[in-house]
Amino acid sequence: MPVVRGKDIEVFYSASTIARRNLELAKQVAEREYEDLLVISILKGSFIFAADLIRAMHDAGISPEVEFMMISSYGTGTTSGQINVLRDIDNDVAGRDILLIDDILESGKTLKFVRDLMLSRGAKSVSIAVLLDKRSKRQIDIEADYVGFECPDYFVVGYGMDVAHAFRELPFVGVVRGDA
Ligand code: IMP
Ligand code: MG
Repeated sequence: MPVVRGKDIEVFYSASTIARRNLELAKQVAEREYEDLLVISILKGSFIFAADLIRAMHDAGISPEVEFMMISSYGTGTTSGQINVLRDIDNDVAGRDILLIDDILESGKTLKFVRDLMLSRGAKSVSIAVLLDKRSKRQIDIEADYVGFECPDYFVVGYGMDVAHAFRELPFVGVVRGDA
């Protein structure tokens, strides 16, 4: 088991497994033939997934515009409470095909909020790509169009995802198992 910051980390999805899956997801995105696609990466957790997925999309022949949006949710720590836009996109989304990229679809509140916001601004379509789907935790009826992996209900870190601001730099997704 890798040891990082003195903790044992169990690897759930290795770097090579994620890379292979990203190529498959990019091909699925390419099949939809979006027009003038605008990708919106939801910060902070999706930054590594988004960076890898858009490069895989390039290999699949897609040249998207890329934007970033920072969303905060506060509530009871692990569940999303009220949602705030901390950094908005600059673009006019009216009439455009949009692909939201996030790390995890859990309760669904974050992505429903952003999707509804884009639709209210006149987006033509809003699709969703997530690395991980924690389906068992869903509170709202929302599905992603592109899912890397169905994820069991563990608190995962790495590949952009943190616990208390740590472990985002890991090239894999894993679970902190305790002191090494
Ligand atoms: P929800 O779908 O609105 O509940 O929000 C999902 C968000 O919660 C994700 O974008 C992550 O930022 C965060 N999150 C949920 N589960 C985890 C986890 O296991 N590790 C790290 N962040 C998580
Ligand atoms: Mg997030």
